[in-house]
Amino acid sequence: MASSYSVKDLVPLTGSNAKMPRIGYGVYKSTDCKTAVLAALSAGYRHIDTAQFYKNEADVGEAIKVSGIPRKELYIATKIQYPVENSVESTLESLRESVLKIDPGEGERKGYVDLFLVHTPSSGREGREILWRALESLREEGGTVDIGVSNYGTEHLFQMNSYASITPVCNQIEVHPFCQQKEVISFCKSKDIVVTAYAPIVRNRRSDNPVLVAIGQKHGKHPTQVMIKWSLQKGYLPLPKSDNPERMKANMDMDGWELTEGDMSEIEQLDEGQGGAICPYPLNCP
Ligand SMILES: NC(=O)c1ccc[n+]([C@@H]2O[C@H](COP(=O)([O-])OP(=O)(O)OC[C@H]3O[C@@H](n4cnc5c(N)ncnc54)[C@H](OP(=O)(O)O)[C@@H]3O)[C@@H](O)[C@H]2O)c1
Repeated sequence: MASSYSVKDLVPLTGSNAKMPRIGYGVYKSTDCKTAVLAALSAGYRHIDTAQFYKNEADVGEAIKVSGIPRKELYIATKIQYPVENSVESTLESLRESVLKIDPGEGERKGYVDLFLVHTPSSGREGREILWRALESLREEGGTVDIGVSNYGTEHLFQMNSYASITPVCNQIEVHPFCQQKEVISFCKSKDIVVTAYAPIVRNRRSDNPVLVAIGQKHGKHPTQVMIKWSLQKGYLPLPKSDNPERMKANMDMDGWELTEGDMSEIEQLDEGQGGAICPYPLNCP
């Protein structure tokens, strides 16, 4: 059960030459995003997760530029929520605008993101197809290395067989001990779709859980660290967010200790299914 997964791991993506850093830094509701991303990069994060919806793609872009870290050492993911004007071309234009904000390129080097996701399945069957076709075109023209989805349930993924030429490399979903998403994760595994875990520490709302507190005390770790470690040992790629540099470091302090099989089984019992989710995203929407 216990694994030697390290936060420094680069995870191979099926159907791609790219690899994704095993832990990512999320910037949803980041109060000063540019400063936070610079601090996260100093703490060692190399994978940043933003979205059009977060309205901070340009701040992420600024931080990347100021950091001086070579672009190829960074992994930047963003997301689009809805199709624009129900048109693949207008949606593609919106994707290009995101890329320009994050990485406008430099000299001969064309700008790109590493991963562009459909943020939610909420735009319906037709909307999802428009979004996916636009993403496939963006990938074709080199604006993104890979494409994927977020908040997709099994049905949404299955339905992609009817319109997708490219299989998503990842599904970004809410996963933590209280919402373990067993069904959709099992489907993703069967298709070699990597699972990135958002809200991996439940926004710090469940850190007083006695099971997590006891396991944390045993290992000399905070319950939030136990949740991130659980995610890593399950083989997921967690995306914790913090504006606080000390917490950023704590959330990366995952190497050199392991949850035991007993710890993992105790945490397994905390699953509350969809009732344990904090984001009311429609994994089951039509
Ligand atoms: N695809 C989607 O639909 C979707 C939805 C939600 C989130 N996401 C992505 O996933 C990322 C993470 O999710 P999230 O931001 O919702 O929740 P989260 O990472 O589970 O929790 C973030 C909250 O926990 C606090 N925190 C962080 N580290 C802590 C620590 N070591 N001890 C105690 N508290 C700590 C943070 O406060 P401070 O900042 O004050 O430290 C913040 O309030 C997002 O930023 C976003 O990139 C995606």
